[in-house]
Amino acid sequence: MVSRVIPVEVFDLVIFGGTGDLARRKILPGLYRRFLSGQMTGGSRIIGAARADLTDEAFRQSVAEAIDEFVPEERRDPKVIADFLAHLHYVTIDAKGEGGWDVLKAMMRPGVVRAFYFSVAPALFGDIALRLKSHGVADSEARIVVEKPFGRDLASARTLNATLAQHFDERQIYRIDHYLGKETVQNLMAVRFANILFEPIWKAQYIDHVQITVAETVGVEGRGAYYDKSGAMRDMVQNHMMQLLCLIAMEPPYHFDPNAVRDEKLKVIRALDAVRPEDIVRGQYLPGGGEGGYVEHSENPQSKTESYIALKVNVSNWRWKGTPFYLRTGKRLRARASEIAITFKEPPHSIFDDARGWRENVLVIRLQPDEGMNLMVMIKEPGPGGMRLMQVPLDMSFAGVLGAEAEDIPDAYERLIMDVIRGNQTLFMRGDEVEAAWAWTDPIINGWEARGDRPQGYDAGSSGPEDALMLMHRDGRRWREIR
Ligand code: BG6
Repeated sequence: MVSRVIPVEVFDLVIFGGTGDLARRKILPGLYRRFLSGQMTGGSRIIGAARADLTDEAFRQSVAEAIDEFVPEERRDPKVIADFLAHLHYVTIDAKGEGGWDVLKAMMRPGVVRAFYFSVAPALFGDIALRLKSHGVADSEARIVVEKPFGRDLASARTLNATLAQHFDERQIYRIDHYLGKETVQNLMAVRFANILFEPIWKAQYIDHVQITVAETVGVEGRGAYYDKSGAMRDMVQNHMMQLLCLIAMEPPYHFDPNAVRDEKLKVIRALDAVRPEDIVRGQYLPGGGEGGYVEHSENPQSKTESYIALKVNVSNWRWKGTPFYLRTGKRLRARASEIAITFKEPPHSIFDDARGWRENVLVIRLQPDEGMNLMVMIKEPGPGGMRLMQVPLDMSFAGVLGAEAEDIPDAYERLIMDVIRGNQTLFMRGDEVEAAWAWTDPIINGWEARGDRPQGYDAGSSGPEDALMLMHRDGRRWREIR
C-alpha cells in the first residue's frame, strides 16, 4: 500500500529558468503529478520567470507540451491538465537587471509559502538572490532551491555559499541532490535505522566491502559543453555518489531531523581518506553501436574529460576501518543500473563439508530500474542430496510489494519540491557538506590536471575500462555484473 497523500500548504513557487530544460523535463511535469495526486492544492500558484517575453497563455501552452512529452499517457487527464494550467503564470524577468522584479513582487501573496527555484546557471544565483531581497520579493520565511552544479571546486562552492548567505539564512536554502529524493535511497535509512537486524553488523567487523554503482546507457549527447568542463567526478561522484556513501556509512542520527542527519553525513565526508592515484580509474567511451564516441559529443577532439570513474576509498573511523568502499559510475555502459551492494564477510568457521558454491551474504539495494532490495542468503539445497548449500535471494522489490500502486510513488524531484514547501531540509545538502565534498574531490582532480592524465578508452556498451576490473581483482574481489 502506498502511503496517503497529505496535501501541502498553499504556495507560490517561482521557477527561474521556467522555460528551461530541467523545468520542462522534471519540475513542471512533476508538479502536475503532485496536482493530480491532490498533494498540490487549489490555491497554489506556479510562476515561470525567464528572459523570454511570454504571455501566461504561451507559458501554459509550453507546459502543456512538456506534460504531453514527459508524463506517461495513463497519467494525462485532460480535465486535470486544464485545471493545473490555470494555476500557472509567467513573468518576464531580467536576472541581471531590474526589469520584471516589481511585477513579481506585486504577485506575491501574504500568508502563503514562498519558494524560488533557481533552475538557472550558477553564475546567476547571486544576481537573483540579491534582487529577490532588494525588491522585497522574498520574505524572511521564503525558501530558495538551487540545483547542481554547486560550484566546480572548493573555492567556487565557498563563493556561492557566501553569496547566498548574504541574502538568505541556511534554513532557507535548499540545495538539491535529486538522488536523495529517490525512494530507495530513503529506504536505505529506513532499513538501517528502523530495524534491529542490520545495525549491529553494519561495521567493518562484519562487512567485507561496499560497492556503489551508477551505470548509465546514455552518453553526453547535447550536454557536451557542460559535461566537458565537468566529467564524471564533478557530475556524479562529488554529489550523488557521495550522498549514497554517506547514507551507508553514517552513524545513526539522534533523530530523523535535518541537522541531525546532515551532521552525521558531514562526519563521514570528513573521514574519507585521500584517494591514491592507483586507486582510481578514469575512462572515456569510444564510438560504438552506431554512435559517436565521447570526443564527438564534447566538441573537443582532444578532450581529457572522463565519462567513467571507478575508485576505492576508505572511511577512516572506528566503524569502517578496513572496509573499502568501491564506487563506479559511467555513461554509455552496458545497462542502466544503479545499486549499492553491501558484501558481508564469510562466517568465521564452516561446519559444513559442502564448500561448493559458498558465497558471502550480500545486501543489494537497487535504486533503478526495478527498485527494491535483495538479501542473498545461504540455505540448504532442497531435496535428498544431503547437506548441500545454495545461495538464494530474499527478494523485496517495490513493484512486487506495491503492485500497480508503485506507479504512484513520486519521483525524486516531485518529492523534493514538496519537501521544500513543507519546509523540511532533511533531504537537501547543507553548505558545509558540499564544501567538504569538494575538499575531498579537489586534490584528485588537481592531480590529474597536474599530471596531464588521459582517461582510458572503453567500448560503448561495455562495463567500463579494463583497469577498473583490476582495481578490485587486486584486492581479491570483483565488481557485480552491470545488468
Ligand atoms: C545528473 C547528471 O545529476 O544525474 C547526469 O548531471 C546524470 O549526467 C543524471 O545522467 C543521472 O540521474 P538519474 O536520476 O537518471 O540516475
